[in-house]
Amino acid sequence: MINLTVNGQAHSWDGDPSLPLLWYLRDEAGLTGTKFGCGRALCGACTVHIEGQAARSCITAMSDVANQKITTIEGLDANGDHPVQKAWREANVPQCGYCQSGQIMQASALLQQNPHPSHDEIRETMSGNICRCGCYQRIESAIRLAATGT
Ligand code: FES
Ligand code: FES
Repeated sequence: MINLTVNGQAHSWDGDPSLPLLWYLRDEAGLTGTKFGCGRALCGACTVHIEGQAARSCITAMSDVANQKITTIEGLDANGDHPVQKAWREANVPQCGYCQSGQIMQASALLQQNPHPSHDEIRETMSGNICRCGCYQRIESAIRLAATGT
């Protein structure tokens, strides 16, 4: 039995320990805000927080998250009012939206660790999160907005 915490709630899994966390979140826990893009840690669509760190849930086995705290986009803020989410709305970031939960989870982890990232730090941290719609400039603008607290 694998015990873990997802968005503050206790979960347990007695199935295949090699099951990717992404499948558990979407198919078992019903948390479909986290998206599947590539399944190979190449796009960032599946990004969640594990113990506060951004992680690719598509390549994270359930056995790797035993007794860990997971946060998904649904748990970032109960009302969708995390500073990064507010900034995302203010900057009108999304186009199709598919990559966006992964982008927000990556950005919120960045700001948690580095509240005032430089241009280069934002670029470097976000470089693994692919947006097929090319919203990169608005993503960076929103991160800057969130960092200034406005
Ligand atoms: S689905 Fe995990 S990085 Fe692409
Ligand atoms: S908003 Fe469409 S993939 Fe990023």
